[in-house]
Amino acid sequence: MKQDLIIAIDGHSSTGKSSLSKIIAKKLGYTHIDSGAMYRAVTLFALNNGLIENQKVKVDQLVARLPEIQISFKLNSLTNKNETFLNGQNVEAQIRDLKVSSMVSPIAVIAEVREYCVALQQKMGKAKRIVMDGRDIGTTVYPNADIKFFITASAEIRAKRRFLEYQQEGKVIPLDEVLANVIERDHIDSSREHSPLRKAHDAIEVDNSNLNLEETVEHVMQILQKRFN
Ligand code: CDP
Ligand code: CDP
Repeated sequence: MKQDLIIAIDGHSSTGKSSLSKIIAKKLGYTHIDSGAMYRAVTLFALNNGLIENQKVKVDQLVARLPEIQISFKLNSLTNKNETFLNGQNVEAQIRDLKVSSMVSPIAVIAEVREYCVALQQKMGKAKRIVMDGRDIGTTVYPNADIKFFITASAEIRAKRRFLEYQQEGKVIPLDEVLANVIERDHIDSSREHSPLRKAHDAIEVDNSNLNLEETVEHVMQILQKRFN
């Protein structure tokens, strides 16, 4: 790439945004930032500190404790993955748990949580040369990103992908439970008041229902090369 870019990759849950962003970042020598990991880390903090009871978030108490939450990332050179740290502890595995996935969308609707995460995301992107994936990167975090993609695929295909991923990790979770979580999160993410999930008017839509990860990477790289080389 001839210039230093900010590449925004938004879309529905389990469309392969993080896998795609990680590979593109590696190819370009950029940094990948997984914005969802921040909302997941806040959710883990809430779960670990008794701020969620019977699936209900104690919003005021969580907001009051936001200043105690320190989120950072460190590149694992073996896996080439940016791992998430919450108050100095590596929580990369814990934040992917279904327990966290089930509560993350209700946490991500809270305006103060969004302000906190968006500020961190904007700070991390100051240096440019980043690929950031999430739900509102092209609309709210970086409305002036150099290029924006919006990734989508059918809910059934996305649930199957997530199901297989859990299976590979030795976690047996029924497919219908995974599908219900995917649909529920799409619904909460798209209908929330603050920066809902939606395609930015200038984002390029990629439906990868019938594309595997490699084919999606190839498609996106071709678009990038055409536009910026
Ligand atoms: O499971 P998946 O990788 O699709 O989700 P994620 O990217 O890890 O994000 C987890 C949740 O965080 C989403 O379902 C949203 O509720 C929230 N999120 C958000 O609100 N805004 C973002 N920019 C990223 C994630
Ligand atoms: O970040 P997001 O939730 O959008 O998705 P991800 O965590 O990158 O990918 C979810 C799973 O779908 C991973 O196991 C990917 O390898 C898989 N995937 C796929 O099978 N086909 C694609 N076209 C994209 C991702």
